[in-house]
Amino acid sequence: MKESPVAGESGCIFPEIRGMETPLLLMDLRVVGRNVELLRNAFPDVDIWYALKSNPDERVVSCLATLGVGFEVASASELRAVLGLGIPSDRIVCLHTIKSPAFVRLLHDSGISVMAVDCREEVQKLATIAPRSRVVVRLETDGHGSRVRLGGKFGCAPDEVVELARLARRSGLESAGVTMHVGSQCEAIATWLGALNLCRAVCERLAEVGAPPEIISLGGGLPVPYTTSVPPLAAIGGLVRDAAIQRCGTAGCRVTFEPGRSIAATAGTLVTSVIGTATRGGERWVYLDAGIYQGLFEWLPAAGGFAMPIVADHGERPFQRCRLAGPTCDSLDVLPGEFNLPELRTGDRLAFRFAGAYSTSVSTTFNGFDPPRVVLVGTGGDSRDG
Ligand SMILES: Cc1ncc(COP(=O)(O)O)c(C=O)c1O
Repeated sequence: MKESPVAGESGCIFPEIRGMETPLLLMDLRVVGRNVELLRNAFPDVDIWYALKSNPDERVVSCLATLGVGFEVASASELRAVLGLGIPSDRIVCLHTIKSPAFVRLLHDSGISVMAVDCREEVQKLATIAPRSRVVVRLETDGHGSRVRLGGKFGCAPDEVVELARLARRSGLESAGVTMHVGSQCEAIATWLGALNLCRAVCERLAEVGAPPEIISLGGGLPVPYTTSVPPLAAIGGLVRDAAIQRCGTAGCRVTFEPGRSIAATAGTLVTSVIGTATRGGERWVYLDAGIYQGLFEWLPAAGGFAMPIVADHGERPFQRCRLAGPTCDSLDVLPGEFNLPELRTGDRLAFRFAGAYSTSVSTTFNGFDPPRVVLVGTGGDSRDG
């Protein structure tokens, strides 16, 4: 039998939301701010462009805008959201490599000039629809040790990066540099080291062919300590510093990260309620009002197999082994493994910490169950709509 990776903690779950209907994603903007500060301390000469896909809540985005962060968008709707908040186009980039023609047109018309490519077809698309764009070519790196690997679907080999940069120039685009992504939640320091070394080698080759990078984008992938320890940001910061990759760029070369998870995850807590219990074949099943389709998608092994710390009220009750499932009719809607939690009854609450990233943004309304409502906490209780 598979053991639960997390145990319940006792303590009253957020008395300030007592009486409010669940599921709720409680976002604490103070933690968002603290995470930005931690990133800036770990990567002092690096610009931060927040990847909206991790949590596009407008209050999170506004908070980041006031902190001077830039934004990475991957769709027309993300772009409209940031523009709608008054964020100027020079603080927005699109590093998604395959974009629909309509999205490219919207980016171009909105004055967003930094876009990523990783194949000839996309270079041609941009040359036709968005001439003079500042193109960064996505380098494929080894995703070993990352929970969510992105290689294969995106990126190209070093030789191709150089070739595409040349093609971009010949096609009336600007070759602005390189982008990479080691995969989300990259917990292997050796993978970071390998990717940064590879990135530096590619930047050197671009400089040799007369196209030194103006932008070197290091992507996302910065890990969050969900239930196990991960390489500290400072260690990854040390590798970035030692790699000195900006030296292979132009004089004013900008090095950037586009973090999503490492800004949003620890700022969010998903609060659910038990809607029913059952005993099946000697196993205790606990059904929650949010599951795989309402914020807990990343628990699926195919989505990374993340396990977030769980907080349960009623620590005085005896602990009991149980399975946890979401409210829908789908058999996929079950958290993997078994959990050891205080005996749970219908109406009890159960919270998942560090659930601020890729939770509401990948929620669905499958079966008619709404995604969790986002509520701000720790702000004096002034902003609870969402
Ligand atoms: C192009 C790009 N940049 C940044 C990110 C954010 O990555 P993370 O959430 O690991 O920081 C992603 C996520 O998939 C991405 O595709």
